[in-house]
Amino acid sequence: MRQIPLVDLHAQYEEVKEEVKELWDEILDSMYLYLGPNVQKLEKEFADYNRTKYCVGVGSGTEAVHFALRSLGIGEDDEVITPSHTFFATIEAIIHAGAYPVLLDIDSEWYTLSPEGVSEYIQKNCSKENNRLIDKKTGKQLKAILPVHIYGHPADMDAFREIADKYNLFLIEDAAQAHGAEYKGRKTGAIGDAAAFSFYFAKNLGAFGEGGAITTNNEEYATKFKRLREHGQKDKYHHDSIGYNSRLDELQAAVLRCKLKRLDEWNKNRREVASFYKDALNGLPIKLPKEADWAYHVYHLYVIRAEKRDELMTYLKENGIGCGMHYPIPSHLQEAMKEYGYEEGDLPETEKIVKEIISLPMHPHLSEEDKKQVVETIKKFYK
Ligand SMILES: Cc1ncc(COP(=O)(O)O)c(C=O)c1O
Repeated sequence: MRQIPLVDLHAQYEEVKEEVKELWDEILDSMYLYLGPNVQKLEKEFADYNRTKYCVGVGSGTEAVHFALRSLGIGEDDEVITPSHTFFATIEAIIHAGAYPVLLDIDSEWYTLSPEGVSEYIQKNCSKENNRLIDKKTGKQLKAILPVHIYGHPADMDAFREIADKYNLFLIEDAAQAHGAEYKGRKTGAIGDAAAFSFYFAKNLGAFGEGGAITTNNEEYATKFKRLREHGQKDKYHHDSIGYNSRLDELQAAVLRCKLKRLDEWNKNRREVASFYKDALNGLPIKLPKEADWAYHVYHLYVIRAEKRDELMTYLKENGIGCGMHYPIPSHLQEAMKEYGYEEGDLPETEKIVKEIISLPMHPHLSEEDKKQVVETIKKFYK
């Protein structure tokens, strides 16, 4: 039986192979292995791509979120609002920064953090004390909103900007799944005070290992990101703060430079796959992903919702269709979050979606034959 993987990294590799090998030869001959010319060029190229002033490469997307928070002065006694419906790393990064994660519900259309939910939470739970927003539930100061552009669909950033401005909060983007996505014509990553990207190998822009980046238009933040990634160093062996070891290496930066040139074309291919699925699956008892009229969705994942999710998923797997669940357990109900006291029923939309979601094969190199097989298999299930 033909197997169709959820993601095909081989096909992508074939496209960039020769170019990457050439760059890797240069790097290995020079033995300039970290924070060298390729990292510097990538930072410039990715900043230009996003139309931001600065981009700083780091070791992972998790560290990108963590450093963005820390550099904006968020730490102990502070709290950050983010959706429960995200990869758990978003929440870990908030906790690594020392802050308290307030996990809220998503919008039922786009699956991104609900702006109405955030406003409601603030009005109900927070009070202004000396120009600071204090959460009466936790006693902490609410400092930031951290929306996640989940699956490649941008969150409603104008609505969040309005709330952030009203209450004097930072707005930070988790753009780990949204390289190249746009909100009202602006790239995700260029809208908040800072934005975090992941270059985990399966992302729309992925390394051959781990990597991440933070974008911003603020020079002071960019300087802080650079210090945090390298042991708090101002200059070599001059440590003016406590930092981390979280550098992006030259080999990964070279891969990312080769792939960045193709990102728009690959995102376009992803959109064509999405459009094919949309037309072909229309009319079946499943809910298809939507694109807001203000969004340019880059379909990092193509997530459908089905009431008979478990049966459909088993059937797809038995018939060679790779599929996944992003994510099966909501972050607020994870074992690791026990001490935060969240309970089942707290976030109805989030808890509903995790019982219904399936991610279908989605990557820029999915062939006509593959797409057809995915659709035919789903149709057969419902016959
Ligand atoms: C939404 C989101 N945030 C953060 C991360 C963390 O990125 P990384 O795996 O590069 O640490 C990921 C990636 O997996 C993600 O999907």
